[in-house]
Amino acid sequence: MKDSLLNEILKEYDAYRIRERESLIQREAEVMKAIPELARLRNSLVTSFAQKARELILNSEAAGGGYAGGNDMQGKEKEADNDKDIIPEIDNLQEVKKKEAELLVKNGYPADYLTIRYRCRLCRDTGYVGELIKEKCSCLIQRLVERSYKFAELSDVERENFNTFNADVFPDTPIRGSKMTQREYMLQLKSVFWNYQEEFPNNPKKNILFTGKTGLGKTFLLNCLAKALLDKGHTVMKVTSYNLFEHLFRSIWADSPEDVSFMKERIFEVDVLIIDDLGTETRRNNFTAEELFNILNERYLKKKHTFLSTNLSLSDLKSYYSDRVTSRLFDTRNTMIFRFSGQDIRLRAALPENK
Ligand SMILES: Nc1ncnc2c1ncn2[C@@H]1O[C@H](COP(=O)(O)OP(=O)(O)O)[C@@H](O)[C@H]1O
Ligand SMILES: [Mg+2]
Repeated sequence: MKDSLLNEILKEYDAYRIRERESLIQREAEVMKAIPELARLRNSLVTSFAQKARELILNSEAAGGGYAGGNDMQGKEKEADNDKDIIPEIDNLQEVKKKEAELLVKNGYPADYLTIRYRCRLCRDTGYVGELIKEKCSCLIQRLVERSYKFAELSDVERENFNTFNADVFPDTPIRGSKMTQREYMLQLKSVFWNYQEEFPNNPKKNILFTGKTGLGKTFLLNCLAKALLDKGHTVMKVTSYNLFEHLFRSIWADSPEDVSFMKERIFEVDVLIIDDLGTETRRNNFTAEELFNILNERYLKKKHTFLSTNLSLSDLKSYYSDRVTSRLFDTRNTMIFRFSGQDIRLRAALPENK
């Protein structure tokens, strides 16, 4: 998921780590002045480390010179005689830390005053965990999700998702021209898209197009996909076609270029762009068709996923948009097209027998 949202968040992680390190250095300087005993403890720790290091070097030199071990450090110990009573053994680092914490508390500081304050202990604010194979830490995934929610029209996904999918809202009557009932068809789609999100992002087809009248569950299914992919840590932006093109159109005169590029970047960079209700946007000559082509084409070249829903029929789509758009949209090598038909379930819910 190489996208600028990720980079942006990682930069924040870096900035946070640098800030934290700097503030730790400041806290150390402050405490060393305020608690001389602690300063001595630290110094002696450094001395002890240096000693151990020298010991190791001498050992290896001695081994090279034909001695088998046996290293006399008496002379070296004398050097540190002054601090002898508090020179800690490196093995006793934990002890020293405990002593430090005690000294801090005794002097009115919090016990962790000289410890880096990680926001996340798991990844130590690097965003990644794992030794050989680096994986995104859950804190990073969470941030990506939150950020995606914030910039996208995704408030519905908490209500409409695979967990709340209820096939019973669809009539169990056959769809015209099919052996399947509407309910069976929706259950089948549920499983197709469940598998799709499991396979994501390695799906051979990156585009999904839902066509069909209103009230057939298109937006609901898009929300299912959106939520599942967000939960896996991918970035998702869902936007109605109307809002998308309004924004793009208004941005021509926008005062704040940052906002525009921010939105555009999202449109091109986000892992999944969902355009709901294509065809409901205000038609502005070539503007819509050109922008739509741009989006589809850019995302196609970057092998990014784009899901769309529309109330228009395929032939309407052809006459609404340019050939370039429809050839991208209808290219079944990269697009899965699903036709929804049956009863409008909003109307069905309103019928007395279904109350
Ligand atoms: N699988 C489903 N489970 C439960 N409710 C659903 C399901 N699909 C659709 N609905 C509900 O039916 C109504 C119409 O669905 P919607 O997805 O908006 O249809 P469309 O986008 O095709 O117009 C919405 O209120 C939606 O919450
Ligand atoms: Mg809809």
